[in-house]
This record gives sequence, C-alpha cells and structure tokens, in this order.
Amino acid sequence: ASNAGPTSPYVTQIAGVAVPALAERFGTPCYVYDAAMIRQRIADLAPFDTVRYAQKANSNLSVLRLVRGAGVLVDAVSAGEIARALAAGYQPGPGDHAAGQPAEIIYTADIFDRASLDAVIEHDLAVNCGSPDMIDQYGARCQPLGRKRGVTLRINPGFGHGHSQKVNTGGEGSKHGVWHEQIEMCVERAARYGLTVEGLHMHIGSGTDMEHLGRVADAMQAFALRVGPSVHAISAGGGLSTPYRGNEPPVDVAAYYSLWDATRRRLAEAWGHAVALEIEPGRYLAAESGSLVTEVRAVKQMGTKEYILVDAGFNNLVRPAMYGAYHPLAVCPAEGVPQPSAALASFVVAGPLCESGDIFTQKEGGYVEERSLVRPRVGDYLVIGAVGAYGYTMASNYNSKPLVAEVLIDGGEPRLIRAAQTPADLLRGETSESSRD
Ligand code: LLP
Repeated sequence: ASNAGPTSPYVTQIAGVAVPALAERFGTPCYVYDAAMIRQRIADLAPFDTVRYAQKANSNLSVLRLVRGAGVLVDAVSAGEIARALAAGYQPGPGDHAAGQPAEIIYTADIFDRASLDAVIEHDLAVNCGSPDMIDQYGARCQPLGRKRGVTLRINPGFGHGHSQKVNTGGEGSKHGVWHEQIEMCVERAARYGLTVEGLHMHIGSGTDMEHLGRVADAMQAFALRVGPSVHAISAGGGLSTPYRGNEPPVDVAAYYSLWDATRRRLAEAWGHAVALEIEPGRYLAAESGSLVTEVRAVKQMGTKEYILVDAGFNNLVRPAMYGAYHPLAVCPAEGVPQPSAALASFVVAGPLCESGDIFTQKEGGYVEERSLVRPRVGDYLVIGAVGAYGYTMASNYNSKPLVAEVLIDGGEPRLIRAAQTPADLLRGETSESSRD
C-alpha cells in the first residue's frame, strides 16, 4: 500500500500518491485505502469456492462495491450491515446450498435483535445461527410464511485462539456459536420448524496461526459427519492473519486451502455429493490496504521518554488501546522528501484525547512502548499502516471528535468515499431546549 518497510523509516506515498497532497486535500487525520491491494488479496483466495467478506472489518460502501465487483459475497451481523450490503448491490434471497448457489448475503450472529430479524425476514436472507434461540426465533417467523429454508450453524468447537483474548472466539470463555455438544439438539430443533441444516461454519479467532486453523478443519470434519449429508457447504470462517509488522511472512494460503480442501473432499466422498468450501475473511482482504494519515502536533520530553503527539487518537483507531495491537508507524516530512541521513530515536506515539491510554505504541495490558522513528518536526505527517480492517469501523465520537474522511486510491486517483463529519453532525438529534423541571 505504501513505501513503508523495514528498510525505510519514511512513508512519503500511499499507492503512488504523495502523503502531503492527500493531507492537504482531505485533511488530517484521514483514512486512505489502496484498491489494488484489496484486489490482490481477493485474488490470493481464488482457490476457495466462495469468498465471503466479513464487512465488519471495513464496510464503506465503496469498499463493498469494489469487493462485490471482484466476485466476493458478503456477511452481515446487524440490520445496518444488511442495509449496507443491499445498498452495495448484493442481491437478497436465501440461496440454495444443495444447488451450489450460495446466498449473496448471510446474516451471521449469536442473536437476532428485533431489527435484524425483521430485515432477515423481509429480504428472505440466509441465516447462520450462533445460538439455539436464533433457530427458534427464525423458525417461528418462517413457519407461518411456509418457508422451509436451509440454515447454517456456527459451531463453537470448545477451543479457540486469537491475537488477543478479546478476539478469541472459541472455547468456554467465548460467547460465540452453538456449543459443539449441542449440534444434534440444534439439528432436531431446526427440523421442528421445517428448517434443514445445510451448512456448518466455524470462526475461532482472529490472527490465528496455521496450526490452530488446521485444528478447526479437523474438528469441522467430525462435526459435519455428525450432522450428515444434509450439509452441502462448510465455512472456514475468518481469522486469516495479515503481516502487521511488515517483516512477518504472509500467511500460506495454499497450505491453508489444502487443509480445508482435504476436509471437504472427505465429506463429499462420504456423502456422494459436492460440498462447497467457503472462507470469510475480514482483515486479510482489508487490513493492509489502509493507512491513517495524521499530523504531528507536538514533540515533547517527559523525563527519560520523548513523546510524539499526533492529531489522531483512539477515537480514530482503537486497536492499540483495546488489544495492544501493533501497527507500523512512519514519518513523512511536511515537504514529502526524505532526509538523506536521518537519525532514528525512540518515541512514544500518542493522540490528543483526554485519556492516558490514548497511545499508539503499547502492548496488551496498557504497557507503553517506544518505537524507533525518524525525529519529526511539528507539521510533519505520521502514517499509521495496516489500518484498513477494524480501523474506521471501530471509530467513535469520543471527546466530541468528528469521524474523519475516507479516501480510496484506484489507478493513482484518490477519491473521497466518505466525507468527514462536521461539528453540526455531532449535535444532530440532540435537543438544545433547556429543561425546567
Ligand atoms: N467471521 C466471523 C463470524 C467473525 O466473527 C469474524 C470476526 C470474521 C469472520 C472476520 O475475522 P477476520 O478475518 O477479520 O479476522 N476487532 C478485532 C477483530 C474482531 C473480529 C470479530 N470477528 C480486531 O481489530 O482485531
């Protein structure tokens, strides 16, 4: 996405566009995405029958349209995400796993809130059930309509993994999915409403390593055999890691595919019909494409430590504060030209919020770390990398900070794909009348 890398302390361009030009045109902070990088990551996953994008990672409509244009289907976890998928051009409808036609949109969650259940029924969307109660609530609405649909079960296999305990989505410590010992109970429950379990799904965590992901493929085989030949599709879930540190090896997609392909083939052989293989990535498609362009507003000494304060905070990017997540950082001089011999020094990088945890260089548990960077001057830019997934979508208005602009660069052309909020947006819906009681 950029010319960042372990060898250069500078990032002066993003997808071929100069950082100062982006900052001047769109303001700072701003999110900038590289369309070519998203397309490349989609192409990597071509061996899978269905790539289904977990839009919670980045649900900007232009990103959804790009992903859809590349043949990727989508999941939705709320009525809002259903509305986004439809607005991006995804077709409603339940699909037909047995006929090899996956639904374009799947609602996948652990509960229905009332709005999401209404939306699922209205648009007749496919459902991935993460609790027995979801089966009851969906079944009770389908029955009077005479809809006998296939459903998918999201299974909690009893173990999980993730880059942080907060993203571990398997095991007893996780609220996600149908507990693996209740699979038969759920199949029977679904049948009461005329629903058939046609697919199984697992997602045990994000940023998982190959060994753990492999365990999931083995568990899937055992669970699917318990359900039997009504199953026509299995989903490997999301969680494919992305090289946040730049020098990490990229995930071995071919090896991952062959693990799952082996499971799928064994099931197809056992049942004598095809079994489709889905994957449901969020971060793998979107993370590397994104950069957060910030401006350095202060550089100050605090005892033995030196701090760089930038104009973005955890209101813009919460992953470091929430998970101790690592993101690459690099300086871009205001003029956009690297210094020929820049000395590196150690800095803590922090944001503007009235909150001690508003620090981009920290480990899980809130331990402040220092990062080796080129010494910036006030007015230089600091580019935070690998923020295309769970960056903007987890942003907030804390400290009454407006949400910032999002920009997509395609073929060297930057395009504003979401305008920044204005101060007036922040007051919308609030009443300014004084109360006298
Ligand atoms: N499928 C399901 C059912 C999921 O729950 C998730 C993520 C995904 C797919 C996509 O996972 P991915 O491929 O992006 O790892 N905010 C955290 C990640 C939370 C993920 C929750 N579920 C982060 O910033 O790391």
